Amino acid sequence: MKKLRIAIQKSGRLHEESIQLLKECGISIDNGKDQLKATAKNFPMEVYYLRNGDIPKYLLDGVVDCAIIGENVLIEKEYDIPFIQKLGFSKCRVSLAIPKGESYTDINFFNTKRIATSYPNTVRNYLKSKNVTADLHLINGSVEIAPNIGLSDAICDIVSSGSTLFKNNLKEVVTILKSEAVLAKSPDIDAISSDILEKLNFRIQSVLMGRT
Ligand code: PRP
Ligand code: MG
Repeated sequence: MKKLRIAIQKSGRLHEESIQLLKECGISIDNGKDQLKATAKNFPMEVYYLRNGDIPKYLLDGVVDCAIIGENVLIEKEYDIPFIQKLGFSKCRVSLAIPKGESYTDINFFNTKRIATSYPNTVRNYLKSKNVTADLHLINGSVEIAPNIGLSDAICDIVSSGSTLFKNNLKEVVTILKSEAVLAKSPDIDAISSDILEKLNFRIQSVLMGRT
């Protein structure tokens, strides 16, 4: 029997709540700490535990049919992958931040500045729309440390509680976009998988309605 292939984050901030959502949909799966692939017991679905940044490409290539992923990651990859449902958790912002002691006037502050980020496309597009040119440095994690070690003048990263910024003596000055977990669909999904996805989405919507 055909199974819907869904990608969820292997570890990180979306993992637990993604599993929890599926559980509340009445779907039981293994938690994936050891396995990279698990089969749901009572729903025609296979779960792939993947790295966040890899998921958009898997969707694009049709290696998975759908995924629970941060909208910000989809936007950064610029693949034009549709999402079919916002999921209401893992809410965050992608923001520009600078050292607390710096005085900030407007977006022109960033002209010719060095910005460390894991979201280069998002930052570049945003600054371009404001006619600002900066020097971007790609870092894959612990971005907030960059200004403190002289690697950059500013950063652009995810802000949720704001505590990482605070601990690193940075202040948020521009919110580029707001994001949350979404259910995204492969542009390459076939008709049978699409039907199963519709059933899953129906359950998800009921769960979300019950939460509000
Ligand atoms: C994420 C993100 C920020 C932080 C934001 O990092 O990159 O640094 O969380 O959350 P906060 O505003 O609640 O502090 P994560 O801890 O996932 O680690 P990484 O950057 O090394 O991947
Ligand atoms: Mg971080």
